[in-house]
This record gives sequence, C-alpha cells and structure tokens, in this order.
Amino acid sequence: MQKEAEIEIILAFKGFSMWGSFPIVREYLNGATASSLFEARLCYEEMKTRAHVYAPVYFEHEFEELMQYTSHIVFNSISQYKKFYPKTLKAGHPISCGLRVNPEYSDVETDLYNPSAAGSRLGIGSNEFPESLPEGIEGLHFHVLCESTSYSLEKVLENFEARFGKHLHQVKWINMGGGHLMTRTGYNHEHLIGLLTNFRKKYDVQVILEPGSAIAWETGVLVATVMDVVQHQNINTAILDVSFTAHMPDTLEMPYRPRIEGAKDPETNSKYLYRLGGLSCLAGDFMEVYDFGKELRIGDRIIFKDMIHYTMVKTTMFNGVNHPAIAIWTANDELKVVRTFHYQDFKTRLS
Ligand SMILES: Cc1ncc(COP(=O)(O)O)c(C=O)c1O
Repeated sequence: MQKEAEIEIILAFKGFSMWGSFPIVREYLNGATASSLFEARLCYEEMKTRAHVYAPVYFEHEFEELMQYTSHIVFNSISQYKKFYPKTLKAGHPISCGLRVNPEYSDVETDLYNPSAAGSRLGIGSNEFPESLPEGIEGLHFHVLCESTSYSLEKVLENFEARFGKHLHQVKWINMGGGHLMTRTGYNHEHLIGLLTNFRKKYDVQVILEPGSAIAWETGVLVATVMDVVQHQNINTAILDVSFTAHMPDTLEMPYRPRIEGAKDPETNSKYLYRLGGLSCLAGDFMEVYDFGKELRIGDRIIFKDMIHYTMVKTTMFNGVNHPAIAIWTANDELKVVRTFHYQDFKTRLS
C-alpha cells in the first residue's frame, strides 16, 4: 500500500510498543511516531531511526535530549511553536517542524476518542490558525479518526481542505494521524490508495499515516485462569488471575466488551452464565455475564481475544497485582516468553 500510494506509514507507539516484536514490524515499516521523550528514545534504540514526535506540550528540561531522537516534530499550539522552534535549529541535524491543526470534523462517536469535539485542546482550530504559515513550518498534522474506514478519512479530508486548503501548497508533508484501521477485514485498500494518491498529487506533498491499532490488530490474546467461582444473589462470578482495570483498562474506560474464545453474549435460555471478575479491589472490575455453554471450574482458561493494541501499553500494577508475562508465539509453533514481571517492577515505580 505504501508503494502503490507512494506514502509513508509509521507505527504509533502509543498504541503498540512491544519492542521485542519490532524486528517483525521493521520488515514492513521504517519508522514510528512518539508522544514523549521515552517513546522517542525507544524509536531511536529499537526502530533504529529518528522519530516523528507530537505531544500537546514539550518540556524545556527534556527538549535537547528529545531532539537527538527526532526527525519531525509537531507543535500543538503557536505558543509551543514559538517556545521550541528556535531550539530545533540547534539540534545538529535537520528537524522538520509542523503544526497540528483541528479539521473540526470527525465521525468518531465516543467523545473520549474524539479530538474534534467542541473545545478540544488537540490541534489549532481554523479560526485560531494564523493567516500564513509561521517561519520554518514544513508540515501539517491532524488526527481525528479511531478504528475508521477510508470513507471516514475522505470526509475528514474534505473538511481539512475546506479549512486549511490555502496552506497546503506551501507545505512539504501532511501527517494524517492514526485511526486508519487498514488491517480490518473489509477495509477498502483501493479506495484509500486512490484517495491518498489524488491528495498527494493535488498538493505535491508527502503523505504520512501513523496508525497504532491497525499494526497490532488481532495479533494476540490475553490468557487468564479461573481462580474461584462465587455466587451472590443468583449471579455467578468467575474470579480470574487478571484484572480489567489493571490489565485491560480500555474495557472499562472506552468501554467495550472483549471477545472471549468459546463464550457468547447471553440469550434467553442460557444456562451457564458467568460474570468475569478481576482480582483488584475495584467493585466495578468485572465484565457482565457471558454464556460459556458449560460449567466453569477452577483452573479453566479464559482467552480474551485481540488484546495487544492499547491493552499492553495501558496496563498498571494497581493493587500491586503482577502483570501477565509477555510471550511470542512463533510461526514454528514455539511459545517464547520474552518478559516476566517481578516485585522489583512494582517497587521501583513508587519510590
Ligand atoms: C496523534 C495520534 N497519532 C496516532 C494515533 C494512533 O491512532 P490509532 O491507534 O487509532 O491508529 C493516535 C491515537 O490516539 C494519536 O493521538
């Protein structure tokens, strides 16, 4: 797709940064986008290239180091641009600067994931944007999609062009953010390629996409074990050795209902209904009942599907609960455990 549309696709670390798998990622993608000093350094060390960086604000005490790992930087406001642009000139290597703009349109329906919602702090709005591009600005960036199709992007582009079109002939690159779920079954690649090829040619710009979810979509599972089964007021709860709030926080935050191997949503005659309970103290650390079609017993495995993008990066050790180990299942059917977690991982974060 990158070759056909002559665009660049980079990995958004915020969605997936399990660097043990970067050698595989690097077979397909040459770069990454970072939202902090640590992610930028990880890009430099493990993707072996400098990062495209965007954060709502940067820190003066980190900036010099950040620039060592950076090839492109995007500012979220004119005040951040004024403060840090002069420092990019002293980095010792060329750094291409851009501004994040807000296309003021998105079809993402959950406000938590909609950077275009009224009053959004993410990106400069069309009314606030200066008449002409500030000195040294070579690119524009927007990000307003989430698990979206190319048809959503098409509508975003119409709004982006309507609001910022007059600047597009003056920039070198346009970074269209993430949210392009191009690895989902049914995604119309031809449509995306056509859309981006037209845009690229129309403005003679380099086009960059930075998906996170799409890179790790349906690439792995979280395996839990039933530790106990309790009953209260006719509700059975299988208590697991993992926690929704600590290990799958998006299931409660977004919220969404994870898919589970061998389980389905209850129907009127379902017999084997179990809530799944996490092992933390949070009362709401559970998923409402699933139908397992059989009795659940202590020791049974519960396999949560598609638990890699965002799940891994957002975990916490709330309650001091340990993290599940990270393993890679190889094409030769070997299971390689690449990381286990220990008391020191918990202790060293706290003092
Ligand atoms: C600026 C930016 N770029 C890229 C992404 C990655 O988005 P996704 O994982 O939905 O592809 C995000 C996600 O929040 C983002 O904020």
